[in-house]
Amino acid sequence: MKNTDTAGLEKEFQDRIDRGEIIEPKDWMPERYRKQLIRMMSQHAHSEVVGMLPEGNWITRAPSLRRKAVLLAKVQDEAGHGLYIYSAAETLGADRKDLLAEFLSGRAKYSSIFNYPTLTWADMGAIGWLVDGAAIINQTALAKCSYGPYARAMIRICKEENFHHKQGYEILSTLMKGSLPQRAMAQDAVNRWWWPSLMMFGPQDANSPNSEELLRWKVKKYSNDELRQRFIDRTVPQAEHIGLSFPDPLLKWNEKRRHYDFGKINWEEFFNVINGRGPCNRERMKARKKADEDGLWVRLAAEAYAAKHPNLN
Ligand code: 3HC
Repeated sequence: MKNTDTAGLEKEFQDRIDRGEIIEPKDWMPERYRKQLIRMMSQHAHSEVVGMLPEGNWITRAPSLRRKAVLLAKVQDEAGHGLYIYSAAETLGADRKDLLAEFLSGRAKYSSIFNYPTLTWADMGAIGWLVDGAAIINQTALAKCSYGPYARAMIRICKEENFHHKQGYEILSTLMKGSLPQRAMAQDAVNRWWWPSLMMFGPQDANSPNSEELLRWKVKKYSNDELRQRFIDRTVPQAEHIGLSFPDPLLKWNEKRRHYDFGKINWEEFFNVINGRGPCNRERMKARKKADEDGLWVRLAAEAYAAKHPNLN
């Protein structure tokens, strides 16, 4: 006989998760599971959309036609990622208008990383290699998460992120084969983006209030610190390969742990950034609010057209 009481349903749900089953939109799920997913997925979607801004800043200044075409494609990909993830969040009953209202009012978070400025062309390389590299580590794990629509969106997104990662590394490796000022520009970009990239994985496990629940429900397959360590271990040899270094005197291979040790992350800076006090938070929100206002006539026209042609839906 099927369980109908909440405690029974919750146990059945947890058993399904423990067996590695995938949860689909019409399946029963605890309200808290739904809420946590909407929180995380909407923040993720906002991050993809805000993530277009730092790189969009360089489209008109890309050093060649080829670089410009690649950068344009990458920025467009980020918009597409935002759309997939908003759609996936809608399968949980969320209304996209509400999610956007939360974001534009400053109540919903987006990734800390996009609140830093892009000062030189080398920043395009550092973002592709480090930021998209960190995103891949996080999102490859999410591609195996317990919620079907999110996991499937991540599979496609990760394929595109791999291209972003490679193009970033290629920009930096080209600069590292160039003149002294070009090499210095590449190193400077890496110096500025290294620590913020490590912060992308979220606070240390001991200070991560959502992790316990998300790990139990297999939304997260690994903790923030585990993924951060995985990213460092993969990225340090790539840096050495093209002659770059990271601004951390404590970064060193630990033979006993079989991992790199690293220095202390500035958590005060991280919490300032996620609470709206980073170098570019105001600029980013202003740009997104303007885009929302500028796009109003398109939304109204689409709604009016749909009202006139009800059979199109
Ligand atoms: N930036 C902004 N906020 C962050 C953050 C970060 N780097 N890391 C953590 N936070 C926030 C959390 O959202 C949470 O806030 P809330 O409870 O008020 O909503 C708070 O800090 C505490 O952190 P927790 O560790 O408890 O939060 P989570 O368990 O949700 O873990 C996470 C944080 C690892 C970011 C997780 O939510 C996650 O994996 N999210 C999905 C992936 C994602 O959002 N990536 C954003 C990067 S964008 C990107 O990859 C685009 C690509 O094109 C570059």
